[in-house]
This record gives sequence, C-alpha cells and structure tokens, in this order.
Amino acid sequence: MYRTHNCGELRAAHIGQEVTLSGWVQISRDLGGMTFVDLRDRYGITQLVFNMDDNSDLCSTARKLGREFVITATGIVAERASKNPNRPTGDIEINIASMEILNESKVPPFTIEDESDGGDDIRMKYRYMDIRRAPVRNSLIFRSKLAIETRKHLADQDFVEVETPVLIKSTPEGARDFVVPSRMNPGEFYALPQSPQTFKQILMVAGMDKYFQIVKCFRDEDLRADRQPEFTQIDCEMSFVTRDDILDTFEGLTKHLFKAMLDVDLPDFPKMSYDEAMERYGSDKPDVRFDMELVNITEETRGHDFAVFDNAEHIGGICAKGIAADYSNKDLKNITEWVMRPQIGAKGLVYIKYNEDGTIKSTIGKFYDDDTLNAWKEKFGAENGDIVFIMSGEKEKTLKRLNELRLEMGRKLGLMDGKVFKPLWVVDFPLLEWDEDSERFHAMHHPFTAPKKEDEARMLDGDHETMKSLKADAYDLVINGAEIGGGSIRIHDRALQQKNFDLLGFTREEAEDQFGFLMGAFEYGAPPHGGIAFGFDRLCAVMNGQSSIRDFIAFPKNTSGRDVMIDAPSRVDNDQLQELSIALDIKEDKK
Ligand code: AMO
Repeated sequence: MYRTHNCGELRAAHIGQEVTLSGWVQISRDLGGMTFVDLRDRYGITQLVFNMDDNSDLCSTARKLGREFVITATGIVAERASKNPNRPTGDIEINIASMEILNESKVPPFTIEDESDGGDDIRMKYRYMDIRRAPVRNSLIFRSKLAIETRKHLADQDFVEVETPVLIKSTPEGARDFVVPSRMNPGEFYALPQSPQTFKQILMVAGMDKYFQIVKCFRDEDLRADRQPEFTQIDCEMSFVTRDDILDTFEGLTKHLFKAMLDVDLPDFPKMSYDEAMERYGSDKPDVRFDMELVNITEETRGHDFAVFDNAEHIGGICAKGIAADYSNKDLKNITEWVMRPQIGAKGLVYIKYNEDGTIKSTIGKFYDDDTLNAWKEKFGAENGDIVFIMSGEKEKTLKRLNELRLEMGRKLGLMDGKVFKPLWVVDFPLLEWDEDSERFHAMHHPFTAPKKEDEARMLDGDHETMKSLKADAYDLVINGAEIGGGSIRIHDRALQQKNFDLLGFTREEAEDQFGFLMGAFEYGAPPHGGIAFGFDRLCAVMNGQSSIRDFIAFPKNTSGRDVMIDAPSRVDNDQLQELSIALDIKEDKK
C-alpha cells in the first residue's frame, strides 16, 4: 500500500496511529540527531521526522533525500513540540520507522514554493513542476470546480450540452483562423473554430432550445495577459428569448458561480449603454470599482488663446482625489512621460493642482486665471488637495487615452481592490464599425448579430451614414474592467442576414459559399434566438483577482504562441507535407 492518508489530512486526533504517506520531498533538513522532511502532495504538506541516532539503513536512506524525490514512508503520528499554525497539519509530525525512495529527482530548475524564482518560460518548459506549486495547482482545481458548477447550474435550467466539431470552415469572429490541411481533399483546409457560433445557431433551428458547451476556441491573434490562441468559452444559445431573458439567465449563472465558489453575493448588474460607457470611462469595459470618471470640458476651455485646446476636437480630464500634497514635480513628470509613451500616444498632459491652501499650480496658468480654473472645480467634483489631469485631441483617441490614464491612476492609488467585484452589462453596441483604411464596414460583434428592432427598417433602407448609427442588440458582461462575455440577439431572417453580408462587403457568391448553409437553414423555420459566450479562463482569473489567465490553463502558450514544454509549433518533414499536397520545401525555404 502506498498510503493510508494523504499529506494534508492528519490532525491531532490521529496522534498515536501508524500511517503511511507518499509524496514529494519539499525540503529535507539534516539537524544532526534528527532529519526533518516536509512531504508534499496535492493535498498539503506533512512533516516527517527521522531519528538519526543509529546507523540504520533508514538513516542512510534519509541522508540521500533531495528535493522532489518521490518517497513512501510509514511511522507513528506524534504531537509536534513546536507547532506550525500556518499549516493545517501543523500540530503533528510522523516519527518514521520505514521509508522507500520510489524515484529520485534531479535538482529542480526553480524553487517549488508559492513564490517561485523561475521566469515565465522556464516555468512553462517544466510545467509539471510548476503545477506542483500550490498557487498553480489551486488555480487548476478552482477551474475544475467552476466548470462542474457551471454544468450543474445550466443543466438545472434545462440547458443541453452539445459538442460541436473542431474541424470546421472558418467562422468570422474577427481574428485569423488556424487552418488544418485535409489529406483526403488535396489543396483544401479545415479551420479550427474561433467559436461554435454558426453551429449553435443551427442547433436552435434544429429545435434544441437551450444549448451550452464548455468549449475550446482557437484564434490566431496577438497574445496578451488575458488572451491565448486556444482558450475556453462557456458558450450558450437560447430560442424564443429577448435580450433581457438572456441577460437574466446569465446574470443568474454568474451570481450562482460567485456564491458557490467564493461565497460572494453579487448585487444586481446595472446596464450601461456603449455610448455612456465611452463618454464616462472612455472604454466599453469600464472598471467601475472606482469613480474618477471622465469629464468633458471642451466648451469651458475654448476661447482663451490656448491654441492646443482651441484646435482640439475634444478636451477631457479626470480628477485624482487627495493626491496634491504627495504628488511631487517628479511624479507629475513621470505620469506625463507615461501617457506620452507610444503605447498610449498622448501629445502631452495638462495638470491643475488645487493645493490644500487654496493656491493653484497648473501647466496652463498662463492662459487660464485662477478664477477660471476654480470655476472648473465643480465640473470635476474637485476640492482643494486634488489634481485634475487633462488631455485633448481627436475625440475617440482622447477618450481612450483618458481611460488608460484613469486605470493607471486607479492602480497607483490602490483603488482596484481584488476582493471587490463590480459587474455590469454594457448594451446597445454599434452594429457596424467603419474602417477608413479598408473602406469597409466591420461587424462590431459578428455578422450574425441583429440590429435593435427599432433600427431594422433603417438597416434595410438607409444610406451609408445611417449604417454608422445603427445599434445592435448586443451586450457584454464586464467585471472589474475585464470583458468576461459577449453575445447578441441574432438575425434569423434570410433577407436581413443577406443585407448584413452586403454591408460587410461580401459578394453574393462569397456569402453563399461561406454561409449558405446558415442562410439555407433560416428558410426552414428558424426561431428567434440569441446567446452569449463567457471567456472561461478570464472568469477564473477575475474571480481570483488576477489579470493573467495563464495560470488557469494547465499548459498555456507563451507570448510568441509557443508551447515551450513540447516545443510546438514545429516543422514537419517533407514526406508529410507531400502527403498533404503542400508543396513546400521548408529547409530550402529557410535558407
Ligand atoms: P467573443 O468573441 O466576444 O464572442 O468571445 C466571448 C468571450 O471569450 C473571451 N475571449 C478570449 N479569452 C481568452 N483568449 C482569447 N483569445 C479570447 N477571445 C475571446 C472573452 C470574450 O468576452 N460567438 C461569440 C459569442 C456569442 O455571440 O454568443 C463570441 O465568441 O471573455
């Protein structure tokens, strides 16, 4: 028998019992007369004690133990002289009578402790050792429980989990597809799904009524902390529903998951229109854990001979409360440089420091006297002791930069409490985005999203400018500034879907070729339907107050999209390529 108990379960009540434990050596401390070994498994750590007074085989084996050796040991549970209150097993230790080394280990390339000294790539390369660390292991256990809770809750609501294929034809979700060559169909390729979007709509036409799937999606896009090329969605679709039916259902799921996993009672989720979110926060995924809202002072600033403001389309700012006394000239210089970095792209940053003693210090004091600057206070909700930061320029870009500045100030001032959760629905997104470069409309969500009912007629008859003002029946779930999910009511009528493809620049042939199957299905009794998909990895991260999704994925890709453990992607040999009818001599190509 390898074990009678695991390494996390023994307590004072077990004192006097003979037990056998198996696990990994976290650390071995040879103190002359005694050797103490911390033995670790998935469940915890237990202290083993070897009495080294005799020269038995047991002592010589104990002396050989190195970090991460795998052992099995038997002994009597004893009360610890110096207890460790930080460990659930800290009241006891095991006096070992026999022990066997099951496997040795090389010295690990990084410390297997909560705080590791390993860089990202080395941790990914030796992910099996990284997962032995409690934070990563616990993240994966959290993920598993969250998936189980999700399935239970949705099944209780009559949702049916249906698996959709992985080898499909491209779905236009806005990213590039990963493609897979087909040996049996020379020159042709499958695409890996960016989401099961078209399949779940077909399932509604097929009468499944309530579908869900915890499903892998694949998108060949640039990676960030909250983006992986393969990630997981809780994907859902429902028939005979309005927007609010869907929002209620998934607000219910979210509240249930927070309660079941974290014992957190979420309040009802407010709804905010896309336009309002952009105006108040400069972002369609506002972090509403803190105020510091964007203030538009375009009108107030005009006509004071300050050309920068007079020539700008938009002038806006934020008020950082209570920082005037502590914010030095160096701090002001640093934050100005921060917004002028290419990633943010501001041309400069104006500040107004309303000092505690009523004096004002400002970069624009030459153009605006103190009375004028004091008059702006009310608009910003500013008081003495605050600093107002202002930026100007083209409206959309200025709002986005102010959003970045707001988030940075929120971070610096500790306003983003990882234990506080502020969800909201962002609704009424624009249906289409005009792209100046390609001179084309793009679907803001995806091409199957319905316009709001009241915009349907304008969509069918309107001119080019009208199309820019159409609103979609689309929505996002945002928690603490992270887009957790997105969805929409879908078009279920062939003519409207055709019109949308026309607007998006598809020729009739292209639309037929790519989506004929869906439009064809719409002609056989498609019910009104809509749905949503949550980013499952993101939900895990946000619930744990983290911005990176990597440690909630057992084997993630690095920032170059590589799996450094198995070393993928990798070259395939020419025979394999030939079999796939891909006539490419990679070695030649490399030269
Ligand atoms: P969307 O494209 O908004 O909608 O995706 C839904 C959610 O998936 C998550 N997500 C990602 N997570 C990690 N890495 C990525 N690369 C990544 N891309 C997206 C986000 C996002 O909110 N078919 C539609 C849903 C629908 O309309 O029902 C869709 O996929 O959290």
